[in-house]
Amino acid sequence: MTEIIHPLATVPQDQLLARAEADPLRPRFHFVSPAGWLNDPNGVSQWNGTYHLFYQYNPEGAFHHDIQWGHATSTDLVTWTDQPVALSPSAGPDADGCWSGVLVNDNGIPTLVYSGRVDGQELPCLAVGTPDLRTWSKDPANPVIAAPPAGVEITAYRDHCVWREGATWRQLVGSGIRSRGGTAFLYESADLRSWDYIGPLFIGDAAQGDPADTDWTGTMWECVDLFRAGQGSLGSASTDNSPDVLVFSAWDDGDTRHPLYWTGRYAGNSYVPGDLHRLDYGGRFFYAPQSFLDESGRRIMFGWLQEGRSDAAMVEAGWSGVMSLPRVTSLAADGSLTFAPVPELANLRSNHVHVGGMELVADAAPAVSAVSGNQLDLELHFQLAPGASLRLEVLATTDSSETTVIEVNREAGPDSHGTLRLDRTRSSLDPTVDVEEKSGPIPMPAGKVHLRVLVDRSALEIFANGKPLTARVYPTLHGKEVSLAAAAGTVQLQSLDAWTMADIFTDSRQLHP
Ligand code: FRU
Repeated sequence: MTEIIHPLATVPQDQLLARAEADPLRPRFHFVSPAGWLNDPNGVSQWNGTYHLFYQYNPEGAFHHDIQWGHATSTDLVTWTDQPVALSPSAGPDADGCWSGVLVNDNGIPTLVYSGRVDGQELPCLAVGTPDLRTWSKDPANPVIAAPPAGVEITAYRDHCVWREGATWRQLVGSGIRSRGGTAFLYESADLRSWDYIGPLFIGDAAQGDPADTDWTGTMWECVDLFRAGQGSLGSASTDNSPDVLVFSAWDDGDTRHPLYWTGRYAGNSYVPGDLHRLDYGGRFFYAPQSFLDESGRRIMFGWLQEGRSDAAMVEAGWSGVMSLPRVTSLAADGSLTFAPVPELANLRSNHVHVGGMELVADAAPAVSAVSGNQLDLELHFQLAPGASLRLEVLATTDSSETTVIEVNREAGPDSHGTLRLDRTRSSLDPTVDVEEKSGPIPMPAGKVHLRVLVDRSALEIFANGKPLTARVYPTLHGKEVSLAAAAGTVQLQSLDAWTMADIFTDSRQLHP
């Protein structure tokens, strides 16, 4: 049988790794696939102390096709060891792809619940693993749910959230009901293999809001993730009364829009939503997040940083897609979620530069520090007067012909609202890359701000008072300058700390580990 070569597989297999490795825009302290394509985090977990990150992977090239489950392990959430591919398509219900899913502990047996794709549709499938989670066997009865619920016209049907309540397993499958909105269908099982359909957990309203809005809930929900915001488990047996969070990625007719979450209450067979929130102000640049509780009780979330360059540019680069840094997710005082990169990232820091207190005033020359680099961890504490604005520029050339601008603004009024804004219009001289402005509100009691910025070549993760904004930038001149100024009013800078971040892969990697 001759192998069918995908038309986009223009970079020969034996050149993919070198191509990817040579790209100066490839992040060095974020997890990326060895080469080829990466999308969603899958099966994120900690098992007997070891962290596991699976991901949607195409080692054939930097395009989405015949998706497998790549696999990497870590003991510190920072450095990763490639493991053999966990799942790959085979004749049957996943012949065209092993799409997103989760890992659960079935009485000591590691078990994957994923979406098998064949003939343009996805259905729930199962695989069980060896104790080291390196070798997986698909369940002979796949798919374990034979069809989407009858009697409703759905937009799509895939991705899984699976948990246990007492002796019973429950599962959500992401979907959408035509002419209504996104949803998650709820199922129940005693053994993960035979599932009873219960009904839609909750149905969104796609007619509400403008489809152009950054909080439009879409016509289908990808990668639903339901969890109690505290450390408790889901369901009535839990003594933890914190809100239940329903995370989903709003999708519309092939368009991956943005991750959102509701806080509310899951009880019985339904979910009563409270407030709807944007999960990351970068929208599609932090897509399909998935979270887990680690052994120390932290809820850790990963997301997929999609590309903002053309399909052709990705293919040529030999790689596509970045995994976010793991984020600790917790409940803020106002009932929303707050996020911070895991503290273990400090292991990668070197070359510490500390800048002490100073006042920045608008129209003065930027306070240029001794900081420069394209792999940086920046941490700032400052206070904004009403109406003031701090401007931090990164990845800038000395003449500012390319520069990426982060702004934190405080409203002029007496209240404590602020805005985080990312301006990428001068990030790249390449006219074909995405430069849409990203912004969102941040809490700002008394004008105080804790700003954390992680710069990793084309990947940028910003946290302002716990609210994240993630995006991609594609500088062509590879500037490394950092500068700081007041864009308006007066800014009291308490401290700026900066570190260079080390590469997490120092040995060469293999396409098929
Ligand atoms: C989200 C998604 C999932 C699907 C997977 C396929 O990005 O579209 O809904 O399972 O990616 O790779």
